[in-house]
Amino acid sequence: MINLFQPQVGAEELDAVAAVFEDHWLGHGPRTKAFEAAFAEHLGVAPEHVLFINSGTSGLFLAVESLDLQDGDEVVLPSLSFLAAANAVVGSRGRPVFCDVDPRTLNPTAKDVAAALTDRTKAVVVLHYGGYPGDIVEIARLCRERGVTLIEDAACSVASRVDGRAVGTFGDLAMWSFDAMKVLVTGDGGMIYVKDAEQAARVRRLAYHGLTQSSGFGYAKVSARWWELDIPEPGRRVIGNDLTAAIGSVQLRRLPEMVRRRREIVALYDRELAGFDGLLTPPALPAGHESTHYFYWVQMDPAIRDQVAGDLLADDIYTTFRYAPLHKVPAYTTAVGAPAADLRASDWVSDRTLCLPLHPGLSDDDVRTVVASLRKAVERRRSETAA
Ligand SMILES: Cc1ncc(COP(=O)(O)O)c(C=O)c1O
Repeated sequence: MINLFQPQVGAEELDAVAAVFEDHWLGHGPRTKAFEAAFAEHLGVAPEHVLFINSGTSGLFLAVESLDLQDGDEVVLPSLSFLAAANAVVGSRGRPVFCDVDPRTLNPTAKDVAAALTDRTKAVVVLHYGGYPGDIVEIARLCRERGVTLIEDAACSVASRVDGRAVGTFGDLAMWSFDAMKVLVTGDGGMIYVKDAEQAARVRRLAYHGLTQSSGFGYAKVSARWWELDIPEPGRRVIGNDLTAAIGSVQLRRLPEMVRRRREIVALYDRELAGFDGLLTPPALPAGHESTHYFYWVQMDPAIRDQVAGDLLADDIYTTFRYAPLHKVPAYTTAVGAPAADLRASDWVSDRTLCLPLHPGLSDDDVRTVVASLRKAVERRRSETAA
């Protein structure tokens, strides 16, 4: 079986977990702080703005919740988004308004976002498809000009940059995912970044019951009655812990090496598939853009895409399409009365795109096996369709 995604964890991560066991402190503690500090340095921001949480989904919910939406307030996001982004909007009383994407990068352009803005728009949530930064510089400029909060769903773009600046730091808030299928994994986990210092402190409270003070020994040292509660507004408990943070710190150190291998695999796919009739491969990155290379995707005749995916599966190669269009999901449209928009490119993409296996555990031979199976399937299904 050739997996679509596969985590890269080994002896170093195991040693880090063993050290946590030896210290008898599994919860939120010094290793969480150290991971947050290292991640903040990776982003080039101050550590107070970064919080380790239990998933990327929690990050999306926290980010949208912190907007204090009122009934009917609109949040613009691409239809080709991860479903948790729409769940977070609907869960905070907002109306998702779906915008279109560029058909080849699967990222929205600033023009796509602008077309969906109205005077009820409170925020824009954009992801970076497959790690491609996309039009984030222009989208950030547009949001600033229109006074709209920009949330970056940077789940897939932990190592993506534009002109050296980390993706996730262009907007007002951002979140990353470290779930078991991502580039940097902690089993489950995520990071949230909040640009405004006051809002960052609030998000920190919301992520831990709404409490202003941290509990435990450290607080007992500075308060005579450390068990009392101070809760300006209720929150949840979605923080990370030292066990997963220990894994995350090792993974962050290994990130450059893991991304380098991903880049090599992408280059090999590009070379092996170059000029193959009937298949589109991802466009070249613009100058100054660096991708995490989370997805490698191909696009083909919609009449054969699903059959090709089935043929690859029969060869024990798992492929998929991310992200199924949200404007087709009634819970996000009819149920909340979201306005219908022209999403022609999203429909075009959804019918034609297939994500191929991409992770550092793939050998060059694995990649050639995928390519051979793909070529065979496309040729076979195209000739059947032509007949
Ligand atoms: C673009 C995107 N955003 C958010 C998430 C949610 O992250 P998590 O699985 O950590 O909750 C994912 C997970 O697949 C994702 O791909």
